[in-house]
Amino acid sequence: MESEFNPPSESTPWTVTVELDQREHTVEVARGETIFSAVHRAGLCPPFSCVAGVCGECVATLDSGEVEMAVNRALTAKQLARGLILTCQTTPRGDGCRLRFGDHPRLE
Ligand code: FES
Repeated sequence: MESEFNPPSESTPWTVTVELDQREHTVEVARGETIFSAVHRAGLCPPFSCVAGVCGECVATLDSGEVEMAVNRALTAKQLARGLILTCQTTPRGDGCRLRFGDHPRLE
């Protein structure tokens, strides 16, 4: 008898929910792709500048889900503790990530 359990393959994209300009979008993020890249590929336009983890323009608030941030030269430990992430440097570690752009004051 065949098993009904089909684990996701390594090529299955993660599904991320993004709030931008008060609208909610579901975006598929390829394995190893940053959230920022996937959001742009989906035709959305969040703020950005360096795309290198330095300026902080692409910041978003992560409300749920697990992520990994490769480079962070913009956010303090306190900002990280509040859930802020640099989307240009962040990849999901599974389905269910939910984040908001533009819902925080300018980084200080
Ligand atoms: S665009 Fe500069 S930190 Fe992401």
